[in-house]
Amino acid sequence: MKQLIQLETPRMKFSHFYPLLGFLVPTAAIGYGVVIPQSCIAGWHEQSIGFGLALTGASIAYWQGIWLALRGRKPMRKTMRRPEFIAKQSRCPSGLFGLLLARIMATETYRENMAALQLMNLQPEDKVLEIGCGHGRTIAQAVAKTPQGFVAGLDISETMVQMATRHNRRWIKEGRVEIKHGNSISIPYPDCYFDRVFSVHTIYFWSNPINDLREIKRVMKKDSCLILGFKPKEEKVAAEFPSSIYKFYSTDEVVLIMETAGYEHVQIIDSPASARNVLFAIAHPRQDRS
Ligand SMILES: C[S@@+](CC[C@H](N)C(=O)[O-])C[C@H]1O[C@@H](n2cnc3c(N)ncnc32)[C@H](O)[C@@H]1O
Repeated sequence: MKQLIQLETPRMKFSHFYPLLGFLVPTAAIGYGVVIPQSCIAGWHEQSIGFGLALTGASIAYWQGIWLALRGRKPMRKTMRRPEFIAKQSRCPSGLFGLLLARIMATETYRENMAALQLMNLQPEDKVLEIGCGHGRTIAQAVAKTPQGFVAGLDISETMVQMATRHNRRWIKEGRVEIKHGNSISIPYPDCYFDRVFSVHTIYFWSNPINDLREIKRVMKKDSCLILGFKPKEEKVAAEFPSSIYKFYSTDEVVLIMETAGYEHVQIIDSPASARNVLFAIAHPRQDRS
């Protein structure tokens, strides 16, 4: 695995003194009454207030110093892995933390989800399925593009199903959206049901993607198409994710997996509308249904 190596600058050389400086300078300033003159607090437990402020200032400065030092050193370290508990939450968000993470995700993945919708070229009457709909924001966007159609969202996380349901409650009431709790390995819809299926940032979590893709193919109409948004293994950023949770595939592997699962005309697209590092595999179900 490649390591990110950069030359050390003079600023980085001294960065390990930052915490010490950050600790001493404000402590001295506050402690000697430079920031809050002693006369302002005289007669009112001035010693305790001065001491308390000095401690608070020192702690803030201390943590800021550490932050500065770490920030300065970042380029010299090996690629940093994201914590496993966050990766687990991305695979299946739950509870309050899951809700918070999903809100962040909605912003972080906005561009690739919009790119996926654009690539799908949705028609007004299309029936659309999103696998791993998470926060449900993309479903709302798909509804706007399919005024006479229907949009379904599927997610293994109950927390996400609740979140997406809340976000799309208006469309659900009108019968234009359905959000279901379920797994891509067993999709709760009949054969040949959808015109378009898409899934962004989920393939990493499928233990055997060929099986999930075969199941997806089952619910797709003959002339439909599937779009998968993913970060390929070739991207350096893939090394930041813990391999115990995420499995990244090269573009060649994705093509092979899709063809093995029964898709044809598989294309890999690097959409300018998407975020960097994210590619899209577009494919159609092969006519000789297996
Ligand atoms: C990284 S999030 C991506 C969410 C959304 N697609 C986006 O791009 O913002 C992955 C989502 O897929 C869901 N998920 C993971 N594996 C799944 C599976 N096998 N079937 C259905 N949903 C799945 C997770 O619960 C989570 O909400």
